[in-house]
Amino acid sequence: MISVPKGTKDVLPQDSYKWQFIERTAERVAKTFGAQEIRTPTFEHTEVFLRGVGETTDIVNKEMYTFLDKGGRSITLKPEGTAGVARAFVDNGLINGALPGKIYYLTQCFRYERPQAGRLREFHQFGIEFLGASDANIDAEVILLASTFLKEVGISNVTLYINSIGCKECRKKYQQALIEYLSKNIDELCPLCKDRLAKNPLRVLDCKNEDCKKITANAPKILDYICDDCSAHFNKVQKLLKLANVPFKVDAGIVRGLDYYTRTVFEFVSENIGAQGTVCGGGRYDGLIAELGGNDVPGIGFAVGIERILMLLENTGVEIAKKDGIKVYFAPMGEQAEEKAFELCTKLREKGIASDFDHMGRGIKAQFKYADKIGAEYVAVIGSDEIANGSLKLKRMADGQERMVKFDDLINEQL
Ligand code: HAM
Repeated sequence: MISVPKGTKDVLPQDSYKWQFIERTAERVAKTFGAQEIRTPTFEHTEVFLRGVGETTDIVNKEMYTFLDKGGRSITLKPEGTAGVARAFVDNGLINGALPGKIYYLTQCFRYERPQAGRLREFHQFGIEFLGASDANIDAEVILLASTFLKEVGISNVTLYINSIGCKECRKKYQQALIEYLSKNIDELCPLCKDRLAKNPLRVLDCKNEDCKKITANAPKILDYICDDCSAHFNKVQKLLKLANVPFKVDAGIVRGLDYYTRTVFEFVSENIGAQGTVCGGGRYDGLIAELGGNDVPGIGFAVGIERILMLLENTGVEIAKKDGIKVYFAPMGEQAEEKAFELCTKLREKGIASDFDHMGRGIKAQFKYADKIGAEYVAVIGSDEIANGSLKLKRMADGQERMVKFDDLINEQL
């Protein structure tokens, strides 16, 4: 037997309704904020992520599925959605269209990480990217969208952490202070962070190594270095979030693991799903579009991990209602009855009513058992008596109530 590759999962027929519920909710909420869907390819030229996500990030350094295709091009399976969306925005001239462009997507992502609960090698994201506006009101709106989505899928026990990591200018000053501080403790840093210190000191702040974490705990905080403009921007985000009744905590430790971020960054974190508690992460990325060859167009967005949402719902006992099951299951006995079942089943399907009938030549008892297993709402029994008087016996499975219905009336019967 061949099993799935490590870090991947099948979504089985009995569970797919949960995914559909999350996806439909995501689409509905995104649309109420004016977003439209984008679908970008599963793979991109590797350069998109090198330039977008950043060469010193863990994602680019250790986690990408990169290969040369048969034409010798370096290709990477997307490890996240933002860089591809930004590339598509430039590539298709959307940056010259109506701005802000409000985009949402549902996509699979690939990261070669050590699998554990809530951390997979292929996982799925619902993402939002709003491109073209730099006002803090769109930052607040994007965070509100994430918060609304989480509420609508039934999640209440998450904490929103927000921070500002400033613009290019204030980052320069902060970087200097950080280098000064880290250089004093360089011997304690892990080998990778020693390298990061020279190339991209901000990345040291999200190292998972315990020794590095001890040192970064007392490092200078970016919020003490942001310029007046960035500070005013961050204050406005907070003011609007309060107006929208979205509770949050300011946490100077949120720096995010991707290089494209500027100013507002945020995460929704749960205590109920173990070590991988971040269900949603996002922020502003004002330099990304220009990095990918476009104009100086700002952007902000987030992505939610769908597997983590499902895990959180399960761990907190939130049930997703199962809809779209079989309404009527026809249980025929004999050849004539089977033909009638086939005919009536087809009529109901044409009306959009989910119906089915026996394909296995089972006896009546086994047919009822099967109907029960698939969760059919009604069983329509057709035997020789029923054929003789032109009616079927309709049994409601929930309470066992039975009624006779003329074959010709079934299509108009209240079900
Ligand atoms: P990210 O924080 O790398 O951000 O990922 C976003 C979410 O994807 C995480 O909060 C988590 O729920 C889920 N996730 C990440 N890695 C895994 C994994 N290995 N297994 C399962 N779930 C995972 C981004 O990807 C940015 N593109 C978000 C963004 C959009 N920022 C601005 N716009």
